[in-house]
Amino acid sequence: MEQQVFSDETRARAQEIIARYPEGKQRSALLPLLHLVQSEQGQVTPAGVAFCAEQLGLTKAEVGAVATFYTMYKRRPTGDYLVSVCTNTLCDVLGGGDIFRRLSDYLGVGHDETSEDGKVTLEHAECLAACDYAPVVTVNYDFYDNMTPDKASDLVRRLRAGERPMPTRGPRLCTLKEMSLQLAGFADEREGAVAEGPAGAPTLRGVALAEQAGVGAPSYDSKTPIPAAPAKDGAK
Ligand code: FES
Repeated sequence: MEQQVFSDETRARAQEIIARYPEGKQRSALLPLLHLVQSEQGQVTPAGVAFCAEQLGLTKAEVGAVATFYTMYKRRPTGDYLVSVCTNTLCDVLGGGDIFRRLSDYLGVGHDETSEDGKVTLEHAECLAACDYAPVVTVNYDFYDNMTPDKASDLVRRLRAGERPMPTRGPRLCTLKEMSLQLAGFADEREGAVAEGPAGAPTLRGVALAEQAGVGAPSYDSKTPIPAAPAKDGAK
């Protein structure tokens, strides 16, 4: 009998994900399913691609085309901690490139490579949507703001030593597998984690200024009907 690659738990979760989609639209479950297989294997392996294809009635080529398009799906063994250094314009001007070079020297790896102990994968990242805290580094997509080469190498040293330094914002750190499970749509089960980490002052600056100026957004009624699209020319 062919050996089952994925656990019964993953198989049950796959069914739960697929059931979230309307009849006939199940192939839309592909993105969370890819995160799910990554949560078990730490990467999207050929077995993971085959599993997703089998669950959704797609070809492996179709699944592979999606898995290779998005950088969040890892096609090679990846460390417990994915360290992404923003080297896009603003972060780079403020030292993002220096941070990347320091970590690269310290770990002895380049972009998309993993340290010898298998704990840390380093990557360049495009804008991480936190320019108001530049230069930023994320670990498994949690933010460490206003970094310097010294602060970043200390962060990575602590990760390799088994610590989980608290991100600047957001909940406490998790591993890449744990984060992949959350991205598949399963809430962080650690006590109180979902509510952790308020937004930082720069993020809230616009709200504070609007309050000072007495400016508010119009109220929103969630029951407002969505108007139908206008009929196209010639449609009956
Ligand atoms: S340029 Fe780095 S977060 Fe935007």
